[in-house]
Amino acid sequence: MKVAIVGVSGAVGQEFLRVLDQRNFPMDDLVLFGSSRSAGRVYEFRGKQYTVKELKHNDDFKGIDVAFVSAGAGTSREYEKTITKFGTVMIDNSSAFRMDSDVPLVVPEVNPEDALDRPRSVIANPNCTTIQMVVALKAIEKISHIKRVHVSTYQAASGAGATAMAELVKQYEQLMKGEEPTVEKFAYQLAYNVIPHVDVFMDNGYTKEEMKMYNETRKIMHSDVEVSATCVRVPVMRAHSEATWIETERPISVEEARQAFATGEGLVLMDNPAEKEYPMPLFIADHDPVYVGRIRKDISNPNGLTFWTVSDQIKKGAALNAVQIAEYLLKVGNIK
Ligand SMILES: NC(=O)c1ccc[n+]([C@@H]2O[C@H](COP(=O)([O-])OP(=O)(O)OC[C@H]3O[C@@H](n4cnc5c(N)ncnc54)[C@H](OP(=O)(O)O)[C@@H]3O)[C@@H](O)[C@H]2O)c1
Repeated sequence: MKVAIVGVSGAVGQEFLRVLDQRNFPMDDLVLFGSSRSAGRVYEFRGKQYTVKELKHNDDFKGIDVAFVSAGAGTSREYEKTITKFGTVMIDNSSAFRMDSDVPLVVPEVNPEDALDRPRSVIANPNCTTIQMVVALKAIEKISHIKRVHVSTYQAASGAGATAMAELVKQYEQLMKGEEPTVEKFAYQLAYNVIPHVDVFMDNGYTKEEMKMYNETRKIMHSDVEVSATCVRVPVMRAHSEATWIETERPISVEEARQAFATGEGLVLMDNPAEKEYPMPLFIADHDPVYVGRIRKDISNPNGLTFWTVSDQIKKGAALNAVQIAEYLLKVGNIK
């Protein structure tokens, strides 16, 4: 098994190295790629040193079984053919191909079989906000069809990459020294602030991030569910949180929902308000599952239910989800 990571210097690329190691992913060789900025840099993996190669239009992917790609949508579009031309399975973290009808969009807890039908040898990893939401929705969908979702996200700085994390730290340092904070990655200062604006605005008033939650949820769940999202950037370093409201076909009791979440794949129930137990990003960062708490009936709608999820968006929202897809393909004998 020969594996490539494209975009290894980035927030997600670095997480791939950790996740592949933690999960003892079976592999004989590893090839790392980046742009000219990180080419030549050396990373250690399982005690061996690997030098980053510059991604170019050549035959470097010959013999590579799986490529984990996290180098932005433009790079994925430009290099798709180069990466897949010898049959490499490209598992792509960008938004480039997610809604293409000939590219499966996969969350292993929800729709693993979709990964088997990949005419372009490309499998898309969904947006990080969508991944944690559909893992939770799947548990409820099993007991009653979900007709409608309203969700507000609280998205960590690291969702915008390694330089965004550095900018948030720098802003606090600058403010402590009484200096003007540097604002480059976000529309405004994020330190001591929240910004109701993730990705670009669309004609309908939603942002592209919010529309990803609408479109991707329907594609992954093969569902007619209606989704209305408000995506907000918060000064958290790592792990996204989401306040989710759902309307189901039949009323679901809190006990039923707890049971569904407690037994749902990829979920951990953390819901004991009396003991102040609920998930928070500070404590969930670097964990694998999606944590669910604050489960309650909607007092304004008998078919409504509200809950709170937190998950590490670099891990389950990106690298871990992609590695789980590859593990599934290996398990069912669909790649070498
Ligand atoms: N951060 C998250 O939580 C998250 C979650 C889900 C999905 N994603 C997606 O994953 C992708 C990467 O995100 P990130 O947060 O890791 O960003 P990042 O920290 O900014 O890293 C970007 C990576 O892309 C590489 N890259 C850029 N242009 C390239 C090119 N022409 N050829 C080869 N490599 C190139 C960079 O390599 P150099 O250093 O060599 O330029 C770097 O390794 C994005 O599409 C993002 O939307 C991110």
